[in-house]
Amino acid sequence: MPTGVKAEVRTYQMLIEGEWVESASKKTFPVYDPSTEEVIAQVPDANKEDVDRAVAAARKAFESGWGQTTAQERGRILFRLAERVRKESAMLAELESRNSGKPIVEAEFDIADVATCFEYYGGLATKILGYVNPVPDNALSLTLKEPIGVAGQIIPWNYPLLMGAWKLAPALAAGCTCVLKPAEQTPLTVLEMANWFSDIGLPPGVVNIVTGFGETAGAPLVQHPEVNKIAFTGSAAVGKAIVKMAADTVKRVTLELGGKSPNIFFADADFEAAIDGALFGVFINQGEVCSAGSRILVQRSIYPKFVEAMSEKAKKIKLGNPLERETKMGPLVSKEQFDRVRSYQEAGKKEAKLAAGGGRAEKFSRGFYVEPTIFYDVSNSAKIAREEIFGPVASVIPFENESDAVKIANDSPYGLAAAVWTRDIFKAMRAVKALRAGIVWVNHMQPTYVEAPWGGYKQSGFGRELGPWGIEEYLETKQVHINLNEQPIGWY
Ligand code: NAI
Ligand code: MG
Repeated sequence: MPTGVKAEVRTYQMLIEGEWVESASKKTFPVYDPSTEEVIAQVPDANKEDVDRAVAAARKAFESGWGQTTAQERGRILFRLAERVRKESAMLAELESRNSGKPIVEAEFDIADVATCFEYYGGLATKILGYVNPVPDNALSLTLKEPIGVAGQIIPWNYPLLMGAWKLAPALAAGCTCVLKPAEQTPLTVLEMANWFSDIGLPPGVVNIVTGFGETAGAPLVQHPEVNKIAFTGSAAVGKAIVKMAADTVKRVTLELGGKSPNIFFADADFEAAIDGALFGVFINQGEVCSAGSRILVQRSIYPKFVEAMSEKAKKIKLGNPLERETKMGPLVSKEQFDRVRSYQEAGKKEAKLAAGGGRAEKFSRGFYVEPTIFYDVSNSAKIAREEIFGPVASVIPFENESDAVKIANDSPYGLAAAVWTRDIFKAMRAVKALRAGIVWVNHMQPTYVEAPWGGYKQSGFGRELGPWGIEEYLETKQVHINLNEQPIGWY
């Protein structure tokens, strides 16, 4: 055990074919509490050998029955999982908050959404429908939907268990089996949930959890010839590498790569609601949100007042121990993310004006805390306006009129989300149509529902999660032709 590690540090195992196992190398790596910088757990450090075992288990489970289970049975298992998550939600929320640094109140919402996600797809399992194709011959032409096979799922650390649910729920409902790799920073809640798999009747090997790092555990999963599909949420750089790695085996890939989402405020918007919406859009979950409204576009006539009001409120945001209920912002997830966000704060000071924050939150002697930070007079071509920061750093950009706003908003390599605030429904609808983004909110930012599609345009990725769109990504389409004509073809 490394020095400085407290006695209560728990050593976890990972789940392969229903068994709790160490990594083949026996190596583990530490998992931290980002508010204290203390090690809270040790987790198996998986490599290719472990991934190979997990994929073999998932393949076997798929071939030996899960792929043929009835939709009702898969649905019931998902309902039982939802129920169990709900029953244990206090424990899960506390662990999530401790491990990721997110405020406990937000973690409670996340865990509630986890249960809802399993429930939704439990219900959807029995609604996977085929078609009868209206072909012109004396034949019955059918379209069948079948599970794609083994799914490799690689998830990030900002919504650890929720991203697990977004990946596992539709895959299981579709009849796929899974190898899930949680983020190395935050594997704990997924591992806790995996404790209940056998109780709820999930057969061994249907879901395997492999803990490890991207290059050593993620990449072998992407390259594995027996994996039929990769679902990834994370950085654009890794997303691009995954597309290249998946090419050799022509895998299905879906990617959710975050963005630089514009939050657009017209002068006629309700001012109080606007300020609140700007803060919520960019600072919720410490700004570690793929759809963060990190480019705040404000119409010139309200711009000075807006920057001032937003900054005043930002300075009062309560940073603190994530487990305290009044805390509105916890630490960033890791030292790596802290350093990254700090470097963007410094870059911002060189290319824009600072209205709030700008550094480490000095009142904490330890923990990866940074101040909620607002830059204004930001050029849309500045580094802080183009690159995803993934921390509480806002870039406020002025605009003159509607066409100016849409032009700036769309001038980004990303296109995950956008929001527009106005009391003019016609203006709102024109913007909705013109914005190149997978999600557009009007007079709100961030509400996310399992019933509605999630995913981006442009370099924010491809494929859609959630709703019926999410299950489609785990299904193959088979055309079946049944000849009803008893005569020979008669061609030769
Ligand atoms: P990352 O993209 O490196 O990590 C996300 C997941 O991918 C983790 O499970 C990681 O182990 C895995 N991974 C990393 N390299 C891999 C590889 N070569 N092959 C297969 N899997 C691999 O994200 P990171 O480094 O934690 O954060 C960097 C930036 O990424 C953030 O600052 C943020 O801008 C962005 N990000 C976006 C997210 C989103 O929700 N779209 C979530 C997390 C990060
Ligand atoms: Mg990385």
